[in-house]
Amino acid sequence: MLDRWCAGRLPAKPHTVFEIEPGVAAYEECITRAGFEGPFSLLYHRGRPHEAEPIDGARGFPAPAGVPTTHLLRRHYRCFDLPGPSEEDATPLRARTPLLYSEDIVLGFVRPRRPDTGYFANGDADDLYFVQRGGGVLRSVFGDLRFGQGDYVCVPKGTVHRFVPDAGADQAWLSIECKRGLDLPHHYRNAVGQLRMDAPYSHRDFRRPEFVGALDEGVREITVKRNDAFFAFRSRHSPLDVVGWDGSAYPFALPILSFQPRVGLLHLPPPVHATFEANGALICSFVPRPLDFHPRANPCPYPHASVDVDEVLFYANGAFGSRRGIGEGSLSHHPAGIPHGPHPGAYERAFAGEVGARTEEVAVMLDCSAPLQRTRAALACEDAGYHASFAGP
Ligand SMILES: [Fe+2]
Repeated sequence: MLDRWCAGRLPAKPHTVFEIEPGVAAYEECITRAGFEGPFSLLYHRGRPHEAEPIDGARGFPAPAGVPTTHLLRRHYRCFDLPGPSEEDATPLRARTPLLYSEDIVLGFVRPRRPDTGYFANGDADDLYFVQRGGGVLRSVFGDLRFGQGDYVCVPKGTVHRFVPDAGADQAWLSIECKRGLDLPHHYRNAVGQLRMDAPYSHRDFRRPEFVGALDEGVREITVKRNDAFFAFRSRHSPLDVVGWDGSAYPFALPILSFQPRVGLLHLPPPVHATFEANGALICSFVPRPLDFHPRANPCPYPHASVDVDEVLFYANGAFGSRRGIGEGSLSHHPAGIPHGPHPGAYERAFAGEVGARTEEVAVMLDCSAPLQRTRAALACEDAGYHASFAGP
């Protein structure tokens, strides 16, 4: 959650009668986190936000269903080898394909081709997307948030929204459902919650929704996800009938390339790349940067056994100095319990001084506390030779 933001018309004090027209009072909606202890936003609606009626016909993306883990292996999936959604399931809400999941997070790949026809509110999780290809508009009760290639897009739990992908654009998004919440790492903030001057990004790097005023697109259906099931509701009025809001819980976008990388004389471990903190997962950004600059530095990361976490890497541009055989849209999963590290040859190239002074890699990494299971869909795009590729010369 970010700093307080406000848009549109607000009463001078919360919880007071707010006349938006003579004799017409707004309905205040409080969106709160952690019960009433966490970040919150207050929205002012023309109509009651809580009068939608349940209807039949809810549809969404499939709940993750695991296949047994018979071998503990390092694994590699090529997300662009996944079959695209059918025309019926080509909306962002339905086009998501879960690949890896735990009790904390669900990682998926989304290839939408047309806008959502109704609104969606995820009651299970904060949704974080990384836009590998494409762009569009996230339309929500908070306004319109424009996003494009290379952006992270955060949609807080419970936000009524729909995606309008750019028409004709090739869309490919990594999705990360954070079931126990998502935030910025707390050590990047000072005592009053402001991002510290030595944080790897500033408040100015985040894009907030542009408020467009109360909106009626003629859309009345709201699909709500709770406990991995989908439920449909029909509202009597436009759910986007908001005349103003303020608070700290709202959608935002962050370009991955706005992350200011840290570099060291010698190799620094992944937490220096921390970008988001989900309960149960640390989400890191690897971006172009100078490599370690000690005259005898080994810029190739050491093999390691991070025995408390499963590591996942999504390779955005296919460049990653210590790996081979990966490309744009690759997803690697290195489970806890066995060590992982550079591919054969990477260390030797570093010793021979054949590694340049910079890396151009762009990647999203997750260190996940709970063991990840894979879905049947993941099997369809697995590189079966990945584990063995670490053994040869
Ligand atoms: Fe690692």
